[in-house]
Amino acid sequence: MTGLSHTQNQSLKSFNTFGFDVVALQYLPIESPEDLPVLFQAESFKKQPFGILGGGSNITFTQDFQGLLLHNKILGKKIIDQSNDTILVEFGGGENWHETVLYTLENGWGGLENLSLIPGTVGACPIQNIGAYGVEIKDCFHSLTAFHIPSGEFHVLNKEACGFGYRDSVFKREKKGQYFITAVQFRLSTHPEIRTQYGDIQATLDGWGIAEPSIRDISNAVIHIRQSKLPNPAEIGNCGSFFKNPVVSSDIIPALLAQYPDLKTFPAGEGFTKVPAGWLIEKGGWKGYRRDNIGVHAKQALVLVNYGGGTGAQIIALAKEIQADIFQKFGIELEMEVNAW
Ligand code: EPU
Repeated sequence: MTGLSHTQNQSLKSFNTFGFDVVALQYLPIESPEDLPVLFQAESFKKQPFGILGGGSNITFTQDFQGLLLHNKILGKKIIDQSNDTILVEFGGGENWHETVLYTLENGWGGLENLSLIPGTVGACPIQNIGAYGVEIKDCFHSLTAFHIPSGEFHVLNKEACGFGYRDSVFKREKKGQYFITAVQFRLSTHPEIRTQYGDIQATLDGWGIAEPSIRDISNAVIHIRQSKLPNPAEIGNCGSFFKNPVVSSDIIPALLAQYPDLKTFPAGEGFTKVPAGWLIEKGGWKGYRRDNIGVHAKQALVLVNYGGGTGAQIIALAKEIQADIFQKFGIELEMEVNAW
């Protein structure tokens, strides 16, 4: 190993939001980008498998991690550029996502408010282009800085280079496993557009008697809605949405609507339609289903939960059963959004 101090048999229970009781054979927190070239050049390092962990909120550990787990702990906040009504700001990849959103709100910078209370880290957010309540990270994303493992160099990738899609980016496809994201730069606004259209945001604000919401009000509404529907990982282990909302050929929609008039659909480009996976899973009869210590959340069928003492292998087995059942009932394939290790 290098001079960087790693621990052996590190428990990952508090490092994954499912709360699975697994260990990493070797574990190394990375606090500075400068550690990365040193580490990846070391001969001893090259001999073993490695993985990169952020907030552990999109991962199902099905077994102990059999290698060196690098935990992104790179912190930092920095204003890069400021003009009349926009600001370019950089955050370290290991910064907590929600704390980062709150920090931008304290400064009056708009753009991230609809993404309040999403578990995870800044460095992980571009990987799956996190999204909620009508906004995706790509909307405010400017660029990111990352250590390119194959070349040993630091690269800056702009929005185009990241190839963002719905819960997707190059980091899940052709560049998978190649980058350690050390910092992300966002373009935020001091005169932000207020986005209340999605779901219950407007109704929540109306209920509070707020006619002209600030970005802080939007954040509070999103926090309120999320807390009412989604389990708090500190209380019930989960990884948020376990599956992606499937995008299907629009040709199959009329027959589905004839059978299920309450199906909500969303346009997803010419000839394609997005169908809510939560609705499919609920209609399939799985909402609130519980087996031993795991199950399907009672208020949001897209979320699989660990009530305590469950394992990643049990979650994956349940997820596969749900996939098979939904395919059998609706002819639609559900794709897992969460990574399995
Ligand atoms: N629905 C059901 N039953 C359920 C859940 C949802 O019928 O059990 C229906 C709802 O009635 C609604 C539709 O499905 O018509 C959409 O539901 P919702 O607005 O709750 O959002 P979602 O599609 O289930 C997505 C994201 C969430 C994000 C919300 C809000 C994905 C995979 N998930 O969920 O993201 O918070 O929209 O924007 O796109 C996450 O990725 O971890 C996550 C929580």
